[in-house]
Amino acid sequence: MDSASGRKKIEWVRAHMPVLNTLRDELIDKAPFRGMRIAICLHLEAKTAYLAMLLADLGAEVAIAGSNPLSTQDDVARALAETGVEVHSHHGSTDEEYRAYVEAVAETRPHLIIDDGGDLIGLLHDGRPELAEDVIGGAEETTTGLMRLRALSAEGRLSFPVMAVNDALSKYLFDNRYGTGQSVWDGIVRATNLVVAGKHVVVAGYGWCGKGVALRARGMGARVTVTEVDPVAANEAIMDGCRVTTMDEAAPEGDLFVTVTGCRDVVARRHMEVMKDGAILANAGHFDVEVSVADLDQLCGGYDVVRDGIRRYTRPDGGRLYLLGEGRLVNLACADGHPAEIMDMSFALQLLALKYLKDNPGLPPAVYPVGDDIDRRVASLRLQGLGVPLDALTPEQADYLSSWKM
Ligand code: ADE
Repeated sequence: MDSASGRKKIEWVRAHMPVLNTLRDELIDKAPFRGMRIAICLHLEAKTAYLAMLLADLGAEVAIAGSNPLSTQDDVARALAETGVEVHSHHGSTDEEYRAYVEAVAETRPHLIIDDGGDLIGLLHDGRPELAEDVIGGAEETTTGLMRLRALSAEGRLSFPVMAVNDALSKYLFDNRYGTGQSVWDGIVRATNLVVAGKHVVVAGYGWCGKGVALRARGMGARVTVTEVDPVAANEAIMDGCRVTTMDEAAPEGDLFVTVTGCRDVVARRHMEVMKDGAILANAGHFDVEVSVADLDQLCGGYDVVRDGIRRYTRPDGGRLYLLGEGRLVNLACADGHPAEIMDMSFALQLLALKYLKDNPGLPPAVYPVGDDIDRRVASLRLQGLGVPLDALTPEQADYLSSWKM
């Protein structure tokens, strides 16, 4: 695929990422990343390409691998490579090729890292730790990646500091909820060209991503059932107007299933055996383990591709199950990922998290929250971009809010 369409895609998102553009204007003369090698493992689509180009403009030598075999857009990757960023990725890579690409990025011996899902930082601990000698720190984009890194840290094996970008308010309240909420339906609707209104949608997992998926499903007129393992999240789903039950109960009832749990085998063979003929299965969690593709293969003995991004599995009883995006992240495998304005905030946090690490070298290995100052700065820059003003506290009000006396 030629790079011209990739350049246009990058140009389009650039025009819709005011927070990053403001940071660019502020920092460009200072070149804060001069002399730094930055290794990135992110979904390689246009917004990510713009972040990589910006980091290079701010002085860094940048190398990037895609963070999922199906999320890389080849025209964007080519356009990015033409700017001088080192790119290791292609759409539809095998698992071995994917691992080799991540390794190639690690081999640049980075000072700073941006990861999405923990594969790059994982490799720098298990596999090629000798490549981590120059690492000052990393930043992780996702809930799943942080879960893995906190497990590594709990074992006492984390060898450098990592900023928990996912846990910033300006990240998960927007990216996880509204980003996933919109882009998952973008992927499902583009792939299927079917109506959502009137469908019985089963959302597995009611974290911030699941909340967004369910919210938008209801907005489009679906009936929504939520499955959960957490009693608090289940109560939230109920009070948001969803029905809550188990996947065993929901399996024979749903028309369309979306997994957003971060866990494995959430939709397993016993569920697939009782699903309606024509049920659609989509995953929006980081790894392709939430809908067990191995179980689908075993139950149905193979599949045929009925439309771009749609596999049809036929059960021995003739029932058909449709799997979107090979069970990988449906919003990136079947669409372009989150909207530009959302990734603008997430990637501004990434940029400022890297700058914080660079300005504070020698932090002990641990998972660190993104500071409130960075979080509020990103939120404020977004408001500034929108031209939305805020009230300011009077001194009396500030005093009132910070005093225990009435
Ligand atoms: N685009 C780039 N990274 C993404 C992510 N983690 N989720 C959705 N869209 C993205």
